[in-house]
Amino acid sequence: MSIKVKSKDKKVDTPVALPADEAAKEAFLRAKGRTRHHFVEGEHPVIRIEHLGKTFIDTPVLRDVNLAVWPGEVVVVLGPSGSGKSTMLRCINLLETPTAGHILINDHEITGVGEKQKQKVRRNLGMVFQSFNLFPHLTALENVMIAQRKVLGKSKEEAEVEAREQLDAVGLADRANYKPPQLSGGQQQRVAIARAVAMHPEVMLFDEPTSALDPELVRGVLDVMRELAENSGMTMIVVTHEMGFARDVADRVVFMEGGVVVEQGLPEDVFDHPHNKRTASFLGSIKEV
Ligand SMILES: Nc1ncnc2c1ncn2[C@@H]1O[C@H](COP(=O)(O)OP(=O)(O)OP(=O)(O)O)[C@@H](O)[C@H]1O
Ligand SMILES: [Mg+2]
Repeated sequence: MSIKVKSKDKKVDTPVALPADEAAKEAFLRAKGRTRHHFVEGEHPVIRIEHLGKTFIDTPVLRDVNLAVWPGEVVVVLGPSGSGKSTMLRCINLLETPTAGHILINDHEITGVGEKQKQKVRRNLGMVFQSFNLFPHLTALENVMIAQRKVLGKSKEEAEVEAREQLDAVGLADRANYKPPQLSGGQQQRVAIARAVAMHPEVMLFDEPTSALDPELVRGVLDVMRELAENSGMTMIVVTHEMGFARDVADRVVFMEGGVVVEQGLPEDVFDHPHNKRTASFLGSIKEV
């Protein structure tokens, strides 16, 4: 299928996506032994990325990315600046239009869908960015309520119960009436996580959620993410350079460079015995916390 793209971006024709059962089998064989995920017989990936490409005008940024993420799996994506990590997340979230390949969620193609369908897909994907993107004039509680009201059509009462529950889960029950400028960066990021989780998405995407924070605030945000990974069963794709988090919490670590997945595997394998020279030199350049 060819994909509609912005007129200046180069479009490429790619073969149709694999049939679901075949793709699941292939993804299983590729992931076996490379993830802590416990496979269930007949399970299909939640997200399937096949031959994903993104070229901005003449600059290829993603080249033939293939990745399948399993239900409840926590995948940490590492890679140097400019390797295409954010672009990949933005393609999954339909903020960018791929120029080649396919992205499927629960075996449904999301690449090339119309505007109405896009909203439906996004509803099922929680996104947490480096910059928290909270409404500064609304309280923490209102920030967590607003999308529930506007997108899910929940009543004020229902949205408030959910928002209080999620603020409590991120340790901010007592800050519900504070506005973002009255909160620390770490607290703001925890509100942003509560806001995303309150929508009960099937998959959470995190793009360097702690890299804008002062070091002393990082731990609180990572603890909230760890709790989410371990106790909610949520599928998570996390772009982060927090190696300690990746080592403890990730089911699988994926290393990207130059728009391709260079290496992937169990955290201990990738960190302690990287196969690829570029992975090794990148890992050597960042300090474990
Ligand atoms: N809208 C755009 N137009 C042109 N080039 C872009 C656009 N968005 C991203 N790029 C380029 O794509 C490349 C990959 O960017 P991306 O943000 O995905 O990298 P990244 O791995 O997330 O890096 P970082 O670790 O710095 O966040 C970069 O070279 C960037 O300049
Ligand atoms: Mg990025």
